[in-house]
Amino acid sequence: MKQMIIHGGKPLQGDVWIGGAKNSTVALIPASILSRTTVTLEGVPRIADVDNLMDLLAEMDVHCDFKETTLKIDPKDIRMSPLPAGKIKSLRASYYFMGALLGRFGKAIVGFPGGDDIGPRPIDQHIKGFEALGACVKNEDDQIIITAPEDGLHGAKIHLKMPSVGATMNIIMASVTAKGQTIIENAAKEPEIIDLATFLNNMGAVIRGAGTDTIRIEGVEELRAQIPHTIIPDRIEAGTYISIAACIGNGIRIHNIIEEHLDSYLAKVEEMGVVIDADEDSLFVYPAGDLKMVQVRTDVYPGFATDLQQPITPLLLTAKTGEGVVIDNIYPKRIGHIAELQKMGANIQVQDNIIMAHPTAEFHGAEVTAGEIRAGACLMIAGLMADGTTIIDKAGNILRGYDRIEQKLRKLGADVSFKDDPDEPGIMDPVEDN
Ligand code: EPU
Repeated sequence: MKQMIIHGGKPLQGDVWIGGAKNSTVALIPASILSRTTVTLEGVPRIADVDNLMDLLAEMDVHCDFKETTLKIDPKDIRMSPLPAGKIKSLRASYYFMGALLGRFGKAIVGFPGGDDIGPRPIDQHIKGFEALGACVKNEDDQIIITAPEDGLHGAKIHLKMPSVGATMNIIMASVTAKGQTIIENAAKEPEIIDLATFLNNMGAVIRGAGTDTIRIEGVEELRAQIPHTIIPDRIEAGTYISIAACIGNGIRIHNIIEEHLDSYLAKVEEMGVVIDADEDSLFVYPAGDLKMVQVRTDVYPGFATDLQQPITPLLLTAKTGEGVVIDNIYPKRIGHIAELQKMGANIQVQDNIIMAHPTAEFHGAEVTAGEIRAGACLMIAGLMADGTTIIDKAGNILRGYDRIEQKLRKLGADVSFKDDPDEPGIMDPVEDN
């Protein structure tokens, strides 16, 4: 297991470049197996999730070549291979292989993704979608076995109960080669959905309406990648650095952002009093003065992202007066970070899944645990602000989703490092939930 060691209290300044979006990347890599030709992804973040997905591809004889931020995926020799529970449980996003394998081979055997640290995460809408396309879905020995009929999948109209990111992506991947038209109603509208649709359309798929409530897919025979695809910047990583900059920055410029993707987050931090200058594809965050508390309610895009409620929480605690409230409507149980923040001196409570934040004069270093990636980001920000040393256990969860985090923070002047946990040598960091 990894630990992150932070010697806090150092003001940070300078420039930071945002990497490709994790939540696009973890869908685009499985989607690559839909191509008959080599796929080139640019702007791929250096995160542990990518390494784990490459391991899964290797099991299917898909060759990967990852240099700098360019990942080439060659699926020409791909072999249909079951992905058992062990692997998928250590990487939730590998459930995208359900849609991708189904679209490519008409069959997928994938381990059942488990529950996790942010509460229950059912996949009933994914399964409903596969069944509507004509697939038979069975759950045997903790594995989901999905089989298309003899004559292949057919288009269907699918109305999602909620605009699920994962279900929308999985149904798109399964239906791009189905016969006829598929319509997804109440589809998720997150920028990562548009990124997937752009990627697949450039390979010959016909997907219209991505980014709106209704997505229409006309099935095609096969897909062939012809041009490189550049992954959109990670809006959650960008939001995390905005929070870092406002909490402990002495002037930080954040490059490679799409401002529109951050609208609701920027509105909230500006409501608090943070001053930000926006340029074409960068933002400059001024050192924060006296901030005021705000209320945060997470929602689907373009609402305030659930993945940013934890990274904004340390910022709320820097406000001088009032009470801040955080309510996560997407994952109401995403509250594991609160007890850890309390260990660092934060004046924060949670009752009935409602988080109440109060002004905290100072944080002190402590040993805390990152139950999942965004809880880790929250504790990391608190650690950067805190007096003394903070040790974050299970810090592998941070490395799974934050591109070259140690390098980027050090460049801004932070004193941070990662090391193996001496108390738990050789044990893999546990499952998280991104
Ligand atoms: N839901 C269902 N049934 C389903 C699918 C979803 O009830 O079949 C519920 C979920 O329990 C949740 C809501 O619908 O309450 C939304 O879930 P969604 O399916 O949109 O989430 P996801 O696809 O599992 C992705 C991201 C998460 C991010 C959410 C919401 C990836 C790999 N994961 O999860 O990212 O929080 O969308 O935007 O893209 C993270 O990066 O830290 C992370 C957890």
